[in-house]
Amino acid sequence: MLKTEYLGLELKSPVIVASGPMTQNIVSLKKCEEAGAGAVVLKSIFEEQIESDVSTEMKANEEFLSHSSAEGFFAQSSRDFYIDKYMKLLTMAKKELSIPVIASVSAKSMDAWIDYAERFAACGADAIELNYYPISSQSDIPGSEVDRKALEFAKVARDKIKLPLSMKIGYKYSSLANIIAGFDRIGIDGAVLFNRFFRPDIDIEKMEFSQGSPSSSPDEYGEALRWIGLMSGEVKMDLAGNTGIHTGETVVKMLLAGAPACEICTAIVKNGFSVISKMNEDIEAWMKRHGFSSVNDFKGRLAQEKSEEGYKWERTQFLKTIG
Ligand SMILES: Cc1cc2nc3c(=O)[nH]c(=O)nc-3n(C[C@H](O)[C@H](O)[C@H](O)COP(=O)(O)O)c2cc1C
Repeated sequence: MLKTEYLGLELKSPVIVASGPMTQNIVSLKKCEEAGAGAVVLKSIFEEQIESDVSTEMKANEEFLSHSSAEGFFAQSSRDFYIDKYMKLLTMAKKELSIPVIASVSAKSMDAWIDYAERFAACGADAIELNYYPISSQSDIPGSEVDRKALEFAKVARDKIKLPLSMKIGYKYSSLANIIAGFDRIGIDGAVLFNRFFRPDIDIEKMEFSQGSPSSSPDEYGEALRWIGLMSGEVKMDLAGNTGIHTGETVVKMLLAGAPACEICTAIVKNGFSVISKMNEDIEAWMKRHGFSSVNDFKGRLAQEKSEEGYKWERTQFLKTIG
């Protein structure tokens, strides 16, 4: 009943476990499957993290390295050590799980991204999710340039990676509609709307930089819902919902807006793996109440292109003030 298709993969449920703490070891990955997840996205491999760990190790071995010509070799083998660790988890997940396993890559340089993705394809990953996270803090770079870079990046990734490919992005672009349509034209299979990025904060007693909560709250799903509603009828690629999806009801909203699936993280961190089965039960109960026997019966019913009231996706704020 809950079967859906995402990135060309058949999922038994639209509830996907997002890249994060629940997808970084085999024990919890198995729990995701047991609880009824449709797929899992492994915790990202971060180029920055690898480079920082490699540089710590280089420092620890400074004395030895200064007496040898092995510096470059040492750095590369340390890098390979971390990548191998990720590949082991991926290989094990593919062996032990029957649901699709999506590898997630977060890198700064294009070469690293493509290198990791190619290695993960060889380990049997079902798809690759690219965690694309540029911070456009340079005041002399216009929005059009930021958008152009995102599309250029996606194009190179598409040309090199043969697996189904999705882009996990944030919503702060000058024209999201243009970026999403651009990804679609390039042949990207899906976009995850939206990643919830690290939020900086300040501890006013210590007068220090601190980290905002990594967890979302259940009222944060609005932006994803809006953009899925606006764009799902316009593009071929799949738009998965992410951020603030804590209940089966919110998954139903995303599906009605046109998402084939949703990624969840905080809901599991806060409520445990059983929230996945609860979401599945609640979606099914809603489907029964409304006489739907498959997700395709109602997916996208309220997308802007399909609904007579599609204009409301853009204008609700005005209507409210006028009304
Ligand atoms: C502790 C923690 C670690 C995360 N690690 C990653 C990561 O490695 N890669 C990634 O793409 N997203 C990561 N995320 C983001 C989640 O995948 C997800 O996009 C975000 O939490 C929003 O979804 P939610 O509202 O269901 O939590 C992480 C989130 C949390 C809370």
